[in-house]
Amino acid sequence: MTDKLSDIGNYKTINWDRVDDAIDKATWEKLTEQFWLDTRIPVSNDTNDWRELDDTHQWVVGHVFGGLTLLDTVQSQDGMRSLQLGAVTPHEKAVLNNIQFMESVHAKSYSTIFSTLNTQTEIDEIFHWSDSEEYLQNKARWIVDLYRNDPDPLHKKVANVFLETCLFYSGFYTPLYYLGNNKLVNVAEIIKLILRDESVHGTYIGYKYQVGYNQLSQAEQQKQDDWAYDLLYKLYANEEKYASLCYDQVGWTNDVLTFVQYNANKALMNLGKEGLFPTTASDVNPIIMNGINTTTSNHDFFSQVGNGYLLGQVEAMSDDDYTIGIDDTLPDEGDK
Ligand SMILES: [Fe+2]
Ligand SMILES: [Fe+2]
Repeated sequence: MTDKLSDIGNYKTINWDRVDDAIDKATWEKLTEQFWLDTRIPVSNDTNDWRELDDTHQWVVGHVFGGLTLLDTVQSQDGMRSLQLGAVTPHEKAVLNNIQFMESVHAKSYSTIFSTLNTQTEIDEIFHWSDSEEYLQNKARWIVDLYRNDPDPLHKKVANVFLETCLFYSGFYTPLYYLGNNKLVNVAEIIKLILRDESVHGTYIGYKYQVGYNQLSQAEQQKQDDWAYDLLYKLYANEEKYASLCYDQVGWTNDVLTFVQYNANKALMNLGKEGLFPTTASDVNPIIMNGINTTTSNHDFFSQVGNGYLLGQVEAMSDDDYTIGIDDTLPDEGDK
């Protein structure tokens, strides 16, 4: 016991008044400023739009959201924890703590959408599908394998950025498509809040990758590059199959893959690398770019999180607030 204690040595206090990397502090501030919760978005306002969709399109929405839930589960349960092992500064660990919690909010927010739009039987089927569908499970299991078993902290960061900035986008395509058509706008509001988080996460982790990468020799950098492009090829080949599985039935597969390519290039850019695909923003379906550009333009001054976001109603607490779950029909002690 004493030996183990001496291994720990003196425990270091995190000091936010002495920050080694200003990006840590700036990212913390950005992320806390854009904090949000799924329960504040009025998804039920989309039920009319939802009812107008035929069964096939409803299937697509439900199942790509199931896929997104799985990927956010990976991020909240394995992703940030594995990145913490390679964190260089205490402030980086704090930022990763923030990100980890928000990944849990992301994963939970899909359930808010499901419980509003889908029946319990449909929800159970979607989760069964997400827990077993081959190409979706490939994405999750390959990335988790790197998180858990690859000893190179830079590889974990590459896996993270590819997941966040590329693999999510085959799923994000659907809500952005509907938003571009002015449908399911509250569902899309949730997705846009998630997207905005992912954009900060991808940039930040990509930056941390570059800090480590720049300390390597040229030969080591070349090895890192080869490894990263190989991984992206493998993930993209799987993504083609996943997109086909989800989108052939509605004829969107090619458009979805163009969007994935566009975001794969962005992921490489976050890592400081050259894009792989000749695809640019002008190749992406303009309806999707329209969805992306439909900013929640009247950003609320107080919440800073967009015009679909409801501010909480605050009231003082009373003793009754602590009686949740207590059956008030039971006799109290004195009545026995
Ligand atoms: Fe996420
Ligand atoms: Fe993320």
